[in-house]
Amino acid sequence: MSDVIPVIAIDGPSASGKGTVAGIVAGKLGFHYLDSGALYRLTAYAAQQQDVSWDDEAGLEPVARALDVQFKEGEIWLAGAAVGDAIRSEEAGRGASRVAVWPRVRDALLQRQRDFRRSPGLVADGRDMASVVFPDAQLKIFLTATAEARAERRYKQLIEKGMGANIHTLLQDLRERDARDAARPVAPLKPTEDAILLDTTDMTIDQAVRFVLDRFVV
Ligand code: CDP
Repeated sequence: MSDVIPVIAIDGPSASGKGTVAGIVAGKLGFHYLDSGALYRLTAYAAQQQDVSWDDEAGLEPVARALDVQFKEGEIWLAGAAVGDAIRSEEAGRGASRVAVWPRVRDALLQRQRDFRRSPGLVADGRDMASVVFPDAQLKIFLTATAEARAERRYKQLIEKGMGANIHTLLQDLRERDARDAARPVAPLKPTEDAILLDTTDMTIDQAVRFVLDRFVV
């Protein structure tokens, strides 16, 4: 067995279910879990609190670099306060995708993400886990589903959290965010050549989890 700490990279578009699948796979393997999208959401959120515009790359960089964030007890803590669902709204998602276009923001978050690679292994979910953050990942999965299926999943998620949602607005938001994530010059949303594509449109979460676990050989 090699002494390299294994990484499973799960990338894909919004609401494809990658966070849920990644979390369960990590739990089953006893691996650590990185929700990289949360870091972009937190950057957008912290910027808003500090009156820094999502369009201001130079202003955002120090915000991203200085994020005082901790992932513990199944909760995210920013400067010692539990963030809860404040970063889970569609607006926070839109903000994340706006700040994520900036190379200096991405660079500021890079090492922080790599630091999650700890023994016995890591499952990382995002857009550029396979292409930029962990290019040497042992397994790379690109998880998709149709925009309609994704909008429906996000709708259920938001309703379950007691947050308001409208399926038509959600679908429009998803398409906009996909387009922005795929079109940006730096770390665009796109499968790497060595990634395995997994379309979960007609799959249950358990089936998607099984698919990933079956392909992971240490
Ligand atoms: O849950 P959902 O897939 O909608 O979003 P997320 O994974 O929390 O990511 C929110 C936004 O952050 C995405 O739309 C991307 O623009 C950005 N992001 C990124 O650029 N790179 C990552 N590795 C993760 C997220």
